Amino acid sequence: MKNDKDYKFGTRAIHGGQDPDPLTGAVMTPIYQTSTYAQSGPGEHKGYEYSRTDNPTRRALEACLASLEMGDFGLAFASGMSAISTLALIFKSGDHFVCSDDIYGGTFRVFDKIFRNLGLEFSFVDTTNTDNIEAMITNNTKLIWLESPTNPTLKITDIAAVSKMAKSKNILVGVDNTFMSPYFQRPLELGADVVMHSTPSILVVILMLSVVRW
Ligand SMILES: Cc1ncc(COP(=O)(O)O)c(C=O)c1O
Repeated sequence: MKNDKDYKFGTRAIHGGQDPDPLTGAVMTPIYQTSTYAQSGPGEHKGYEYSRTDNPTRRALEACLASLEMGDFGLAFASGMSAISTLALIFKSGDHFVCSDDIYGGTFRVFDKIFRNLGLEFSFVDTTNTDNIEAMITNNTKLIWLESPTNPTLKITDIAAVSKMAKSKNILVGVDNTFMSPYFQRPLELGADVVMHSTPSILVVILMLSVVRW
């Protein structure tokens, strides 16, 4: 689907990144159950060589999720925690993050118990007040990591205000959008740089919302 961003959410949910399979015309993207792809010569292939590095099935999911978030591209991981950990790995020892003080427990633990040991520095603050974040910023602050609402106590942060402040200081803003899903909130449109979800948790939240509505 070309120019996905021109389409409404429902259309992007079904068709975003889901072009018919070029080989057979299958409308639904097939699950390619192969680890390696044939190469006509060393490094000469049709875009895929090894499924872990890239494969059409994962690429379709990534394109669909990126489309729902109005992002330019997406990356899919085996879990939300591996997505967050991979993001943290792009930074270097001495870099500092300011984070919501009520983030998901697994995120707190991987930051506090693993990445702190690798030299990253963290400040956990009540991000419902943007001034609290600004007060913690140092010369080494590279990322502001938000959840809004937070898991578990549903604290709300003004993502647009934080992003505006961060941009003026050349600091990236990342948002764990698991609890809202891109249907209700699209952080990239509010000025954030990175957005992530735990898709199994989104399903639980959607299920909970459906039960409440029903
Ligand atoms: C808000 C939030 N972020 C991240 C995660 C971690 O995701 P996963 O369980 O897919 O690693 C969860 C899991 O419940 C979550 O609720």
